[in-house]
Amino acid sequence: MCGIVGYIGNKQAYPILINGLKRLEYRGYDSAGVAIYSDDLYIYKRKGKVQELIDYAKGKNIKGTIGIGHTRWATHGKPDNVNAHPHVSGNGRLTLIHNGIIENYALLKEALKKEGHVFESETDTEVLVHFIEEIQKRDNLKLEEAVRIALSKVVGAYAIVVMDKQDPDKLVAARKASPLVIGIGEDEFFVASDPTPIAEYTQKVVFLNDEEIAMVNRNGDLQIKTIEDEIQTPFIQEVDLKIEELEKGDYEHFMLKEIYEQPQTVADCMRGRINSKEGWIKVGGVDTTRDRIFNAKRFIIAACGTSWHAGLIGEYLFEELARISVEVEYASELRYRNPIINSDDVVIALSQSGETADTLAALELAKEKGALCYGIVNNVGSSIARLTHAGSYIHAGPEIGVASTKAFTGQVTLLSMMAIHLGYERGTIPRSYYLQLLEELENIPNKIESLLKSTKKQIEFIAGEIKDADNALYLGRGYNFPIALEGALKLKEISYIHAEGYPAAEMKHGPIALIDENMPVICIATNKSAYEKIVSNIQEVKARKGMVIAIVKEGDTVISKIADYTIEIPDTDEPLTPLLSVVPLQLLSYHIALMRGCNVDQPRNLAKSVTVE
Ligand code: AGP
Ligand code: GLU
Repeated sequence: MCGIVGYIGNKQAYPILINGLKRLEYRGYDSAGVAIYSDDLYIYKRKGKVQELIDYAKGKNIKGTIGIGHTRWATHGKPDNVNAHPHVSGNGRLTLIHNGIIENYALLKEALKKEGHVFESETDTEVLVHFIEEIQKRDNLKLEEAVRIALSKVVGAYAIVVMDKQDPDKLVAARKASPLVIGIGEDEFFVASDPTPIAEYTQKVVFLNDEEIAMVNRNGDLQIKTIEDEIQTPFIQEVDLKIEELEKGDYEHFMLKEIYEQPQTVADCMRGRINSKEGWIKVGGVDTTRDRIFNAKRFIIAACGTSWHAGLIGEYLFEELARISVEVEYASELRYRNPIINSDDVVIALSQSGETADTLAALELAKEKGALCYGIVNNVGSSIARLTHAGSYIHAGPEIGVASTKAFTGQVTLLSMMAIHLGYERGTIPRSYYLQLLEELENIPNKIESLLKSTKKQIEFIAGEIKDADNALYLGRGYNFPIALEGALKLKEISYIHAEGYPAAEMKHGPIALIDENMPVICIATNKSAYEKIVSNIQEVKARKGMVIAIVKEGDTVISKIADYTIEIPDTDEPLTPLLSVVPLQLLSYHIALMRGCNVDQPRNLAKSVTVE
């Protein structure tokens, strides 16, 4: 959702904060601000991107070796300079940044107003810093104690960092449901929403757990305690994050870089987990929970957005290859509908960030109900990864572009390996087919590589042909139905063209009324099974003057004669099709968004990790 960064040590804080905010900007970018302490507290905050803040702070006092910074994704109060973080207590002593939502802020605000507090902003965050001030003043407490007591009375989600100008040798941080990481350097500490702003200074981190408070002191002291005042031993981990992973390199946008990284990231997801020559698959998390997974009555896949589309592909994979019954749920719906979840269920949470609030909450519910909770996550050490009984990382590396691409193919790769593995172990696919799928899976990275090259010009040309459309329809059958949904989401979220994904056969039951010469229809038609059916669907669109862009298997001679444009991709086994058919759709949406002058990496209104409801 938003980006949080803090620093205390012997270096100048401002450059570290600004650099960190730039790395975190993908998480939310309505406004940005910093607070730095030197001879006094200096706060600079502006609506808009981090660059607006940099321009505003030029020539001002930015000295100081302790500071906090924030990029906001507004939940309470419009994006403007007043609602931007950091927020300051009424006595001007405390300053605070926050990711999340204080749900009982209105009640607290009314009570604080009665005590004479005056508020400048519309935010819930400002109420929290006044609340901490009130408790500190009333009981004459140290900052960390006032924070602890205040948070014990707060309802909602938070990751906060607080600074007390009367005690400028300490930062206090705390989290509940929103992520927070402490970086441990040489005589310096970093605090951030995730390791990306920290990695270039130190790889030693502590991922804070829910309801934990951390105090980092200039003298090198790190203390962690719970809201209930229990001392915790910091669990120090090493993150393996390289700077070049956090930069665009030779690419114009992170999204383009991440699309082109997919041959590598799909291979990285399989590394050490699959060997077609020796005929084995090893998915760690599955083997450690073998009995419960093998004997599961049902898999429930819970996710949001693009991860939910990966989950739908998981349903087709597990049901076809392993004959396991699967339900795919929007996490936001699952968590509130009092679902029937039993101890012989396996709940699989799919999440790139590992911090999506709805997915986290659905997982917590599943855990309470006794299901085996399995995580398929990209961000190492993230909340979902730490909540599950078992899981697998997809090893896609940091995904900075808000529109998810390499994480999606990483999730689908992992689900494919799991389904093939379970299918063979449960005897629902023969060894010959098992070995064939293994070999073909190992060929996928090269096939992505080759289609990225072979389709580039055609995709750019087609993008130019449809970039001014107001609407678009994506159609697919079987494994390509979730790909139709994913292609539509990609187009919507970065080009702002309204698009819908539909099962191709469903078009006749309503959406066909939308078809005219202004409606591009992108049809993923690589299916072997039901090929004739998808050809008929294309005919139906053409009969109504619709423009058809078809994704077809290399060498297809039928559809290329009917469709207005065809994009040929390499052939593969049907269950592995999504790993190839999604790539042209990612590129198509990228080029259309670019031609429309949209901000591809940071689309309007969106944030990379939705850590609030
Ligand atoms: C994907 O392009 C979107 N940015 C969004 O739908 C995303 O997939 C969704 O918010 C889930 O995020 P997660 O995978 O980090 O849980
Ligand atoms: N709820 C706070 C606000 O609206 C924080 C939002 C965020 O996580 O960026 O300012």
